[in-house]
Amino acid sequence: MTIPASVLEIASPSVEQTQELGARLGKIVQAGDVIALQGDLGAGKTNFVQGLARGLGITEDVNSPTFILANEYYSGRLPLFHIDAYRVRDAAEAEGFGLDDYLNGNGVTVIEWAERVRDALPRDVLWIQFEYVSENARGIQLDALGKESRARLDELENAARA
Ligand SMILES: Nc1ncnc2c1ncn2[C@@H]1O[C@H](COP(=O)(O)OP(=O)(O)OP(=O)(O)O)[C@@H](O)[C@H]1O
Ligand SMILES: [Mg+2]
Repeated sequence: MTIPASVLEIASPSVEQTQELGARLGKIVQAGDVIALQGDLGAGKTNFVQGLARGLGITEDVNSPTFILANEYYSGRLPLFHIDAYRVRDAAEAEGFGLDDYLNGNGVTVIEWAERVRDALPRDVLWIQFEYVSENARGIQLDALGKESRARLDELENAARA
């Protein structure tokens, strides 16, 4: 019997590896998935999202949406909603830019600085924490907080082993 993983810890030795992890997740995410990213400035969140977009087959350039809060990409297998909550104070303020519409939409929502809007998020999210280790290395911890996110984490692990 295999017990589904709910936490996965990965050491990323380079920006390319961080993007590759994102790309692997991009290949298996499903409509309605919510991916929460947490980590300091420069920890690698946006680079991860760039990989996620590539895995979804998105052809546009993906940049940090810090000033406009949300970017939408429709050229891939599923719509990708990329939100940066750095300038958002709390969940109530997040409602002001329609966070709920993204969360309830039929795309994949990925949120940088997700801890700022934690109260507005659904229960079942894939929560990913990035930690600075050294100039080129990051620690990445993925926590599945529910059934769907756990299924995705399992698939990610199996794909890594194959
Ligand atoms: N292993 C690594 N994974 C990801 N980024 C890395 C890694 N090693 C070095 N870097 C560098 O760290 C920086 C990460 O930048 P990125 O924009 O992805 O961070 P961020 O977490 O989105 O920051 P912000 O909170 O400002 O949006 C880049 O300059 C990248 O080249
Ligand atoms: Mg960023």
